[in-house]
Amino acid sequence: MRFDLLAGTGAVPLAPVMRAPVVLVFDSGLGGLTVLAEVRRTRPDARIVYAADDAAFPYGDLAEPALVARVVAVMERLIAAHAPDLVVIACNTATTLVLPALRARFAIPFVGTVPAIKPAAAATRSGHVSVLATPGTVRRDYTRELIDTYAGSCRVTLVGATRLAGFAEAELAGLPVADDLLRQEIAPCFVGAGAARTDVVVLGCTHYPLLLRRFERLSPWPVTWIDPAPAIARRMAALLGPAPHAAGETGSVTALFTGGERITPALRAALAARGMDKLAIEAMPLARQ
Ligand code: DGL
Repeated sequence: MRFDLLAGTGAVPLAPVMRAPVVLVFDSGLGGLTVLAEVRRTRPDARIVYAADDAAFPYGDLAEPALVARVVAVMERLIAAHAPDLVVIACNTATTLVLPALRARFAIPFVGTVPAIKPAAAATRSGHVSVLATPGTVRRDYTRELIDTYAGSCRVTLVGATRLAGFAEAELAGLPVADDLLRQEIAPCFVGAGAARTDVVVLGCTHYPLLLRRFERLSPWPVTWIDPAPAIARRMAALLGPAPHAAGETGSVTALFTGGERITPALRAALAARGMDKLAIEAMPLARQ
């Protein structure tokens, strides 16, 4: 069954929040920063809590029952501690599996992130579209259903990248990997030849836009890369309703990590450049089975 991923619980906007809204932006790690940037642009007045479940990173490697249990447990803690008005699950791997469980458990609206297959099908000229995502997202029934529903007339190549999310984290931590390693990970996206070759690649993991400039440079031919972040931010804004008249750029971002072990000085600097000067660790180790 397909659930409405970009909608909140019920498609109606929240009753207008007269104070600045509190928005929780959640990911397994740093990928959600690509969504955070759009969220901030859209609602500069919001008080944002950016939560990275880095103790359990990468989500793409977790078995489905373990991932559902983990995300619900972390969300329990975060919602109790920060009382958000709305939660953005800035992670395809979690959204495509866990969103129904979150909506069943919590009454606040959730906005999810899923591979942008519908816009990709609308954008392709050659009919060859690739979806670059984590192995978890590529395996999901939800992803298959999106393809059946929106891309029936396209040739869709699903590419489950095992190392890219980690490479994106390394990039922000000041430890960029070599071009050849990135080239190997994106190579399966490029199929066909001449007029019948891939012309659109969906960035189906929020970590990947962090590497977009390098992807563009390393691609065997130019393609359109689709990042769902602007659509997610628009959906959030529609649910929050219009910003109060007096709202200026008064918002703030607090960054929380459930592990914090991979925070390097370079990463601190990258986060500070995104307005996150103070980082907090809310330790929540993952019990590996
Ligand atoms: N950023 C996450 C996504 O959009 C996944 C990275 C991970 O494997 O944890 O799917």
